[in-house]
Amino acid sequence: MMRPVAALPVRRVARGDPPSGRTSSRAMTTDRGTRRLGMQPMAGMCVAHFELSEKEFQRISRMVGDLAGINLHNGKRELVKARLGKRLRLLGLSSYTEYMKYVEEDASGVELANMLDALSTNLTYFFRESQHLDHLSKDILPQMIAAAGRGPKKLRVWSAGCSSGEEPYSIGVVLMETLPDPSRWDVKILATDISGQVLAKARQGVYEEARFRDMPAAMRGRYFELADAGPPKRFRVCDQLRKIVHFARLNLMEPWPMQGPFDIIFCRNVMIYFDKPTQERIIGRFTDILSPGGVLFIGHSESLSGIQHKLRQVYPTVYRT
Ligand SMILES: C[S@@+](CC[C@H](N)C(=O)[O-])C[C@H]1O[C@@H](n2cnc3c(N)ncnc32)[C@H](O)[C@@H]1O
Repeated sequence: MMRPVAALPVRRVARGDPPSGRTSSRAMTTDRGTRRLGMQPMAGMCVAHFELSEKEFQRISRMVGDLAGINLHNGKRELVKARLGKRLRLLGLSSYTEYMKYVEEDASGVELANMLDALSTNLTYFFRESQHLDHLSKDILPQMIAAAGRGPKKLRVWSAGCSSGEEPYSIGVVLMETLPDPSRWDVKILATDISGQVLAKARQGVYEEARFRDMPAAMRGRYFELADAGPPKRFRVCDQLRKIVHFARLNLMEPWPMQGPFDIIFCRNVMIYFDKPTQERIIGRFTDILSPGGVLFIGHSESLSGIQHKLRQVYPTVYRT
């Protein structure tokens, strides 16, 4: 029986390490052992390619769909073959069936997490879909600031499916730039993702210059410091921003441990991988955990059409309770 992803250990072992408590005789064969140690095969060495049967593809799709909501329709067959093929090579396995057995027998859950990491798409960058951030700074935050009046100045934001952190840090920059006297506000941004690998990068908070392409340079200068002169240049998130963003591992398909309510939720370019019934369930749960008047942002290429929900649309891809 596999454990739910939310229950997987947070500590990750390097990709390619065997599940703890297992010694793999496979690791002992020479070229396999080379791969198991994470080394590249040498020139002249044969790199194995594996066939993915329809039955194996269906089995992997079902497992990933059940556990993470990720919908691997047929167009994703080559992606599955290529990305899991790398895992097979690293582990010295010879078929996808052997790999599935390995995942199921791995009581630590590490290889299951590696599999989901390999199959999810983590593309992100600073100020992606920046119309949302404009809308946040020009419409939504001014309304929330006015509503707070002389009362408690508290703001709770959730970036659900935050990938390597560019989204929650971008939101943080906009909050810092827009809130009058931000130090008087109690602001927290919860940033969650199913993938431990991207969360490790997010917590590190160091990014290459190219990731900032869509972010005004002056803002980058105020919230990021030079970490490495490069090339490529790399910038580190400053403490003021780092301390308002809290990263945690969370599978949206599992129970959510936090109580809420959240004033603002960003869940962009995540549900696109879920089927409609799953999207509907998640949207219902977002609605329940939003505060009255709370706002949900979804990705520009996503839509709630065909989904039963209680939100009202205030802007394309922006909804309010
Ligand atoms: C394409 S990235 C989007 C990042 C960011 N929201 C943006 O729009 O730039 C999608 C992220 O969703 C995460 N994800 C996929 N399925 C998930 C699930 N069931 N629970 C939580 N996160 C999930 C992936 O790990 C990935 O980091």
